[in-house]
Amino acid sequence: MSLLEIRDLSISLPANGRMLPIVEGISLSLNRGEVLGIAGESGSGKTMSAMAVMGLLPKDAEVTGSIRYEGRELIGLGERDFREIRGRDIAMVFQDPLSSLHPMLTIEKQLTDHLRKHRKASRSAARTRAEELLRLVQLPNPAKTLRAYPHQLSGGQRQRVAIAIALACEPSLLIADEPTTALDVTVQAGIIELLLSLTEQVDIGVMIVTHDLGVLSSIADRLAVFYAGEVVETARAAEVFSRPAHPYTEALLAAVPHESESGEIDLKPMRGTPPSAGEWPEGCRFNPRCAYVERQCYSVHPVLSESEPGHLVACHVRGAAS
Ligand SMILES: Nc1ncnc2c1ncn2[C@@H]1O[C@H](COP(=O)(O)OP(=O)(O)OP(=O)(O)O)[C@@H](O)[C@H]1O
Ligand SMILES: [Mg+2]
Repeated sequence: MSLLEIRDLSISLPANGRMLPIVEGISLSLNRGEVLGIAGESGSGKTMSAMAVMGLLPKDAEVTGSIRYEGRELIGLGERDFREIRGRDIAMVFQDPLSSLHPMLTIEKQLTDHLRKHRKASRSAARTRAEELLRLVQLPNPAKTLRAYPHQLSGGQRQRVAIAIALACEPSLLIADEPTTALDVTVQAGIIELLLSLTEQVDIGVMIVTHDLGVLSSIADRLAVFYAGEVVETARAAEVFSRPAHPYTEALLAAVPHESESGEIDLKPMRGTPPSAGEWPEGCRFNPRCAYVERQCYSVHPVLSESEPGHLVACHVRGAAS
């Protein structure tokens, strides 16, 4: 049984008196010890999909399909059940660590409160565990960090603390939504290494959301590429990077600075902009920007199908049928 199994997930939100589709027919799965990378441009529905797993969608969202966590259906659960699951089974790290830290409380207070509430730990056990957690996220001076307030830490240190809090209750699923975007490049690399070492040390599944393919290339086992509310390609990460099947994935990869055959640094910016939610073109949603577009791409919506075993792509030109 997968740790997380998302089947045919669709999410709509009310806008201007009607329901606007945000995500349509997403299917994903994640096992323990695995890192699933979610990539795609801004507005493609990455955060909304993560929020659905956490039960944190706006109240008026319409959600269909299935999200199973260790076999248990999460869609339709009430806030009380979700509150129990969040923190204990599924934890989330956000882009801005300040949003998950309380500005007026020391790191020790925040960590130990969390442990005492969810783990029913005694005061001294919680303090010992808090120090252990700070060591786990490789903060150099745990005792000093425990006494600090969030504003006394650097951005990278704060993100490590946020990760420690997320791990405090030993979740089996960690969702990280753009965990490094707010950090500068050298600090980003440290956080990515940390996430990677955590999946090796603690037996958890990690879903990491980012639009930065460079980040994913060093950490993800599998990749799902989102475009306009759908998954357009999914496969083992190494395979996506070496042989991208979807023209969108190919364009995304070409937009990451890389060494060309002549040894120069090359990058081809993505052309055009992604469509807004609900303003998706008929047929393939990528058709206005696609370099390989054919007649049927304007009228027939492509579905995910295997281009090779384990490699799914939604494209008329590059997919299985071609
Ligand atoms: N509370 C909301 N109400 C209505 N629409 C929303 C709400 N939050 C997000 N959206 C819309 O949902 C769509 C998907 O947003 P989402 O935040 O999931 O994108 P994303 O892929 O995470 O993008 P980014 O890379 O910028 O974080 C966008 O078109 C956005 O405008
Ligand atoms: Mg987002």
